[in-house]
Amino acid sequence: MRFENSTVVVTGGGSGIGRETARAFAEEGGNVVVADVDREVGEDAAETITDETDGEATFVEVDVTDDGAVNSMVETAVEQYGGLDAAVNNAGIGGPQVLTAEVDDDGWQAVIDVNLTGVWRCMRHEIPAMVDDGGGAIVNVASILGRVGFETASAYTAAKHGVLGLTKTAALEYADDEIRVNAVCPGFVETPMLDEAGMLADEDVRRDIEGRHAMDRLGRPDEIADAITWLCSDGASFTTGESLVVDGGYLSQ
Ligand code: NAI
Repeated sequence: MRFENSTVVVTGGGSGIGRETARAFAEEGGNVVVADVDREVGEDAAETITDETDGEATFVEVDVTDDGAVNSMVETAVEQYGGLDAAVNNAGIGGPQVLTAEVDDDGWQAVIDVNLTGVWRCMRHEIPAMVDDGGGAIVNVASILGRVGFETASAYTAAKHGVLGLTKTAALEYADDEIRVNAVCPGFVETPMLDEAGMLADEDVRRDIEGRHAMDRLGRPDEIADAITWLCSDGASFTTGESLVVDGGYLSQ
């Protein structure tokens, strides 16, 4: 029960990695704010987590590109549960799957707004709440594509590389305030995002993606949630500015 009496915000908590992460915190006693732009999946996640775990979950509708909504998300956590101990900035979108020169302005901007600026926007409101609370832990969900390139994912790759820079800088700035800031870099994980990108339904595409990992398979959302909860736990008390790769050996080849 590492998170008993702790308050955690998880953006994109309605689906995939975020949903499994919200559940993992609640299973160890945490109070979780499930923040998502999609009300239907977010409410369902919060209800299911409250019913099935020792912890409690509350849904807050938030678009991470909307500063007022992000502010309300943090205020809800603080008012409802009395502080903010951990935040997982996980909300993300896949974006256009075309060559760099063929990305249009809207496609580029949408990915940067959610996957990079959205992470900064969340941190901008989470950090002061954590300073007021005597410290905390932030985990930003980047990707192996924050470490290497990937054909037809220029905006996504640029945003995820940016998240790692942001993570390191904030880690330096807020170490004295007892706030640790880390990132995780998952390999390809079986979630609705991957399905929507057309990487699961077609067996040949799926096998190609699986084969890029030394373990020859996709990751599971709970395997990423395990890394995120560890980074937020006392077990990671000397870990900050790190980007933890959880990728079945993708980057080792
Ligand atoms: P998902 O699509 O299953 O879940 C993403 C959630 O974020 C959804 O519930 C969606 O409604 C929410 N969301 C999207 N835009 C939002 C916004 N503007 N404001 C608030 N919520 C928003 O995706 P998945 O796969 O669980 O991805 C989670 C994170 O993990 C993303 O940042 C993604 O880039 C990252 N990631 C995913 C990998 C994968 O293979 N699935 C690999 C590496 C990183």
